Amino acid sequence: MVDQTHVRAPDVYARSFQMDPRTLDVMVTRLEAWGRHPFFLRAIDEYLNALALSGRPRVLDLGCGTGVAARALARRPDFAGSVVAIDISDYLTAAGRRLPPRKAWASRSISAPAMRTG
Ligand SMILES: C[S@@+](CC[C@H](N)C(=O)[O-])C[C@H]1O[C@@H](n2cnc3c(N)ncnc32)[C@H](O)[C@@H]1O
Repeated sequence: MVDQTHVRAPDVYARSFQMDPRTLDVMVTRLEAWGRHPFFLRAIDEYLNALALSGRPRVLDLGCGTGVAARALARRPDFAGSVVAIDISDYLTAAGRRLPPRKAWASRSISAPAMRTG
C-alpha cells in the first residue's frame, strides 16, 4: 500500500478498506454511476477491445471496486472465459456481487476479497 498521508488530497480509493459503510455506499453509488455513463461505457468498450481478451480463458481484474469493468467483460458475447476480480475492499466486491451478471460469483480469492464470473 502506497503511503499517501503526506499528500494534501489523498486518493480516497487507497483507503477504501478502512472506511465506514456510509462512505463506502457513496463510493458504490459513484462507481456504479460511472459504470452507467455513456462516456465511461464507450471508454470501457474501447479499452476492452484494445486488450483483445476474447480468446482468454481467465482474466484478472485487480482493484476492481464493484466490478464495473469485470462485469462489462463478462457480459461481452465474444468473451467465454471467466473474470477473477479482486479489490482491497470486501465491501465493494460484496456490493458488486449483488449486481448482474451474477453467474458463479466466488466469494473469495487467495488473499483478498474477490469476485469471479464464469
Ligand atoms: C478508482 S477505483 C476503480 C475501481 C474499478 N476498477 C472501476 O473502474 O470501476 C480504485 C479501486 O482500487 C482499489 N484499491 C486501492 N488500493 C488497492 C490495493 N492495494 N489492492 C487492491 N485494490 C486496491 C480501491 O478499493 C478501489 O476500488
